[in-house]
Amino acid sequence: MIRIGLIGFGTVGSGVYERLLQTKDQIKQLLKKDIEISAILVKDKQKRRAEKVDAFVTTSWEEFCGIAKFDVIFEAIGGIEPAFSYTAKWLEKGVPVISANKKLVAEKGEILEQLATAHSTYYGYEAAVAGGIPIINSLKGTLTTTPITRVSGILNGTTNYMLTEMIENHRCFTEVLLEAQELGYAEADPTDDIEGFDAWYKIRILSRLCFGKWSPVTSFYRKGVSSIEDWHVEVGERLGFKVKLVAEAWRGESGVKGRVTPAFLSPIEPLANVRGVTNGISLEGESIDQLLFLGPGAGKEATANSMVEDFIFHERSTSAWRNTKEEKWDMEESFTHAFVFINHSERNKALEWVKQAGIAVIDTYAHHEGEGWIVPSNHSSPFEMYPIYGDISTRKREKTIHSAQFGAF
Ligand code: NAP
Ligand code: HSE
Repeated sequence: MIRIGLIGFGTVGSGVYERLLQTKDQIKQLLKKDIEISAILVKDKQKRRAEKVDAFVTTSWEEFCGIAKFDVIFEAIGGIEPAFSYTAKWLEKGVPVISANKKLVAEKGEILEQLATAHSTYYGYEAAVAGGIPIINSLKGTLTTTPITRVSGILNGTTNYMLTEMIENHRCFTEVLLEAQELGYAEADPTDDIEGFDAWYKIRILSRLCFGKWSPVTSFYRKGVSSIEDWHVEVGERLGFKVKLVAEAWRGESGVKGRVTPAFLSPIEPLANVRGVTNGISLEGESIDQLLFLGPGAGKEATANSMVEDFIFHERSTSAWRNTKEEKWDMEESFTHAFVFINHSERNKALEWVKQAGIAVIDTYAHHEGEGWIVPSNHSSPFEMYPIYGDISTRKREKTIHSAQFGAF
């Protein structure tokens, strides 16, 4: 008998409960044991639960710990504490823990993995990155010696859903955020989604898998979609680019580097057509060229599916780590041009900047709120630079403006 303890019974936890019951017989066939969900730990005693639960439900940690000798714990509560202490306690006892908690994995994953190894067990976190896409266990299971030079992707379902609805259906920010919350996509505090923290946790986790070690947080830049204004999106669209929150990590000269930032994608870029709650991940390397993974990035069923598969994967596999070589690869930047957005009041400052720096402005588009300029990205800038991914010559040729100031574009 496999005795299961479930910590958290919200969107993800209740999904895991249902998924385990639905696949009980298949799990028995695979693992040669019956499963039993022995206890569930929640926070709010008064909360009405939609599901009728056939397990012991408690708000007391002590009671939860005493109810059974668990064989596996599923953690789906979010945040660092008490999730960290709970996870550490079970790993120290040699009990595997499966988590969907990307914040905990990104911040404390190194310690928790060490604990797991020291106690001959495992810490699985497939569901912490890109919801339903089996990227973590693909890296651990079937890409174990494949050199990877860059990993990039759209890793936050909430913001991708919101951007898609706002751009394609002209809906407002507040309305679509509320909808993403109702659909169970958003974090308990949606600032994590909007300000790019969620994607930042995920790219740090992916970089650990791709490049073999946990990198310092200072090597990863973060900017969320709140910095993007409606008119920036409009200018990008007029020139044929799609705005997305892109996360990326690569091997730099002095170690692994990463960033999360709103970026403008040429329509022929594979990630440009990743719409709605869908996430997309691209792995690049010499022998694989580019591998693409697409799938639901958030939501109850997809995430629960990942957690249950994560458990089965680890129970059945003997090797669970990639063998990465410590090669010094100094990857080039993945983009050569960027958008800067200039409010009318800052136009003179922008003109002075390009003149002083000798920057050849490639294209401009005027909007009543300001101007969007496409510039080479290899200069420092007093304005925020938003990467443009893809070949800029594929952009739509809109009528350019103010060309006299810059010469021919
Ligand atoms: P949620 O719906 O808010 O559920 C959280 C659950 O945790 C609730 O059942 C809550 O108890 C319980 N909980 C919170 N604090 C607790 C504590 N101190 N002790 C015991 N129980 C506690 O959140 P969720 O969307 O399921 O997300 C859970 C985790 O999965 C987060 O780390 C999130 O980032 C991650 N994740 C979510 C998704 C998604 O699509 N939603 C996808 C991938 C990963 P009550 O029910 O009593 O309030
Ligand atoms: N809030 C997260 C997202 C949940 O929207 O992607 C899945 O990790």
